[in-house]
Amino acid sequence: MNQTVNPGDVVVDATVGNGHDTTYLAKLVGPTGHVYGFDVQDAAIAATQAALTADKLDHQVTLTKTGHENLNHVLPAGTAVKCAIFNLGYLPGGDKTVITTAPTTLTAVEALEDRLATNGLIILMVYTGHPGGQDEADALSQHVNELDQHQFQVLRYGFINQIHTPPYLIAIQKR
Ligand SMILES: C[S@@+](CC[C@H](N)C(=O)[O-])C[C@H]1O[C@@H](n2cnc3c(N)ncnc32)[C@H](O)[C@@H]1O
Repeated sequence: MNQTVNPGDVVVDATVGNGHDTTYLAKLVGPTGHVYGFDVQDAAIAATQAALTADKLDHQVTLTKTGHENLNHVLPAGTAVKCAIFNLGYLPGGDKTVITTAPTTLTAVEALEDRLATNGLIILMVYTGHPGGQDEADALSQHVNELDQHQFQVLRYGFINQIHTPPYLIAIQKR
């Protein structure tokens, strides 16, 4: 991410959770850039807001308590996005029944593919070990397999030798 995101860029944290990625992105884009952050849970928005306030990063972040599938209603029309991050699944330490799901994740990913700047990146951390996780992973896999290779490069990074169901990362880069 730090090789893609520069000061002044517009980026998206599609699942703010406890705000770790949001604060990291806010530092990368700096006061001239902007982070749009989304989550469906009050607890996540509150935790992220507190983390931003503690680091004095509030002014370069817009947090919205809504699903990332609604991002086109929040981002200004025509704004190109340099990077978007999805940390899928449930909020660690939170309500494990509130999970990201295939239909809304795909709606958001497709909206971001349309908005990505050249060389821009969508990063998805994918978890399959919880109920519903494999369905979401399968839908995502089908979607990225069908992306035109002339428009997008898609890479997958993951552990080879880890037991159970380790998470893996999908990176979609616009050419
Ligand atoms: C794995 S956590 C994110 C962790 C976060 N990146 C962090 O640094 O702490 C996944 C988050 O996705 C949120 N979520 C679930 N469905 C969502 C949706 N449709 N739009 C946005 N966020 C959603 C959950 O509420 C949860 O907070």
